[in-house]
Amino acid sequence: MCGIVGYIGKQEAYPIIIKGLQRLEYRGYDSAGVAILDGDLKMFKKKGKVSDLEASVKGLNTSGNVGIGHTRWATHGPPNDVNAHPHYSHNQRLAIIHNGIIENYSTLKSALENLGHTFISDTDTEVLVHVIEEFQKRDGLKLEEAVRKALKRVIGAYAIVVVDKEDPNKLVAARKASPLVIGLGKDEFFIASDATPIIEYTNRVIYLQDEEIAIIHHNSLEIINIENEVQDPEIHELEMKLEALEKGGYDSFMLKEIYQQPDTIADGMRGRINVEEGWIKLGGINEFQERIKKAKRLIIVACGTSWHAGLIGEYLVEDLARLPVEVEYASEFRYRNPVINEDDVVIALSQSGETADTLAALELAKDKGALIYGIVNVVGSSIARLTHAGSYIHAGPEIGVASTKAFTGQLTLLTLLAMRIAQLRDSVDKEFLGKLMKELVNIPDKIRQVLELNEKVRYIASEIQDSPNAIYLGRGYNFPVALEGALKLKEISYIHAEGYPAAEMKHGPIALIDEKMPVVVLANNTNNYDKVVSNIQEVKARKGIVIAIVNEGDTEIKKIADYTIEIPATMDELAPFLSVIPLQLLSYHIAIMRGCNVDQPRNLAKSVTVE
Ligand code: M6R
Repeated sequence: MCGIVGYIGKQEAYPIIIKGLQRLEYRGYDSAGVAILDGDLKMFKKKGKVSDLEASVKGLNTSGNVGIGHTRWATHGPPNDVNAHPHYSHNQRLAIIHNGIIENYSTLKSALENLGHTFISDTDTEVLVHVIEEFQKRDGLKLEEAVRKALKRVIGAYAIVVVDKEDPNKLVAARKASPLVIGLGKDEFFIASDATPIIEYTNRVIYLQDEEIAIIHHNSLEIINIENEVQDPEIHELEMKLEALEKGGYDSFMLKEIYQQPDTIADGMRGRINVEEGWIKLGGINEFQERIKKAKRLIIVACGTSWHAGLIGEYLVEDLARLPVEVEYASEFRYRNPVINEDDVVIALSQSGETADTLAALELAKDKGALIYGIVNVVGSSIARLTHAGSYIHAGPEIGVASTKAFTGQLTLLTLLAMRIAQLRDSVDKEFLGKLMKELVNIPDKIRQVLELNEKVRYIASEIQDSPNAIYLGRGYNFPVALEGALKLKEISYIHAEGYPAAEMKHGPIALIDEKMPVVVLANNTNNYDKVVSNIQEVKARKGIVIAIVNEGDTEIKKIADYTIEIPATMDELAPFLSVIPLQLLSYHIAIMRGCNVDQPRNLAKSVTVE
């Protein structure tokens, strides 16, 4: 949440920071700002997108070789020019950018007010920079010392970068529970909240650890911890390619990411499954195979779309491996005193690997002695580093705020994991498992066929684009897909939508159905087919508009539904891979037709690093 960029070196800082902020805009986009050191401390801030900031700065002097920039997702105070980062200290000597939340900011603020400080913004961040200033003034400390002392007073999460106009050849950065990456160039350093703004300059990076503070000059970097002990950081080589951060000819990142899915799913399977030889290898679990085999229970923690993938994971693991599974919203799990035993395996699903609640849920499970396993997309992310073991989904950067390829990437890994646990526990018929493996390998090709239905989906979108509400129904493996389809529509088109298990409709939601209500029914799984047909009849009896996702050649539903989308048949366990694609396209087209920004929907941010 929120994007941070910093630069120190020989180049002009402003263009590097602006480009970096554009790359990070998917993290937050309600306001943006830059501070540049060049003898003086120049500050430019604007409500709106980075392009609004750029336009407002046009013609002004932005030169300087040291600077910081921020794109904001508001927590404290509404999006406006004043609340945008960076924030000045009271004496205007320091400027700070910050991701995270300072939980004790109001106590700190009152103490500062008693010392004569006044504040111009509503933010917790402004309070933090005033605390730093107070230590600097009172004890005559160097910037890094003042930052260290101030951070000892702070409760909460932070990734910060601070500049001091009296000490102009230095950046001081620090993190706790909010990521910060330092890119190592030649006589220059780049700082960012993730690696995307750094990759075009260098692939050598250091991930700052919790409670570490970096003191950065253009030709030197020192890292200390909050106890002032010098640290020996590990340098990582990034494998990300710059093209992965571009739209590649598509109108939006979301559309590109929808179309990438045949490839990203194949990437997630590469080297992990061999149908002829009948093996599945997940490097991450090798060391813990015995513990996983003997586990009494598997708990999946996640948020949003990842939680929907987790529900499908539950069906798969219980079905194939006969191991009890619970799926938990990470935000509930972490606060509800759950029973966690040492023979539990807790799996975190997260695209970003930075979701604050998921991270906290894992920390709780780790403290209680459970084995913790991560299924994550972003390499080197906080969750990936916290877990005992894990598997990357290898979907490449997902920039669109609405998750698409990460969802099918998570399904890929969950299917492999369920099959592997089934092998370890000898819980499933080998012939059946062989058939499932073969079909999983065919999924990318089948998704390519589904993507060819785009024009038909666009037509259906044009028919229902003005509906204020929509209902999504599915059964069995397709129930979580109904939830996911509804979430996709809500988050990018702002149409109210709800997903339900199809049979639940009778227990309340059916009251909503009339001739204006679109009802998307997932009917491509064979188990329960007749029951889904009955549910469609019930909707039609109340004049609802039925859009059904069916298998190719279906005749029965075609007779009763208003619209059908025919997709290739697959095994029920894999049905979500195919049924989710038309739903992603449907929400995409509706959102575009309604003039919405699909990549940056209002109020949302890509990685939710605050709870
Ligand atoms: O990065 P994560 O997978 O942990 O993120 C979880 C949710 O915030 C995320 O899936 C969110 O629901 C997406 N906007 C859905 O499209």
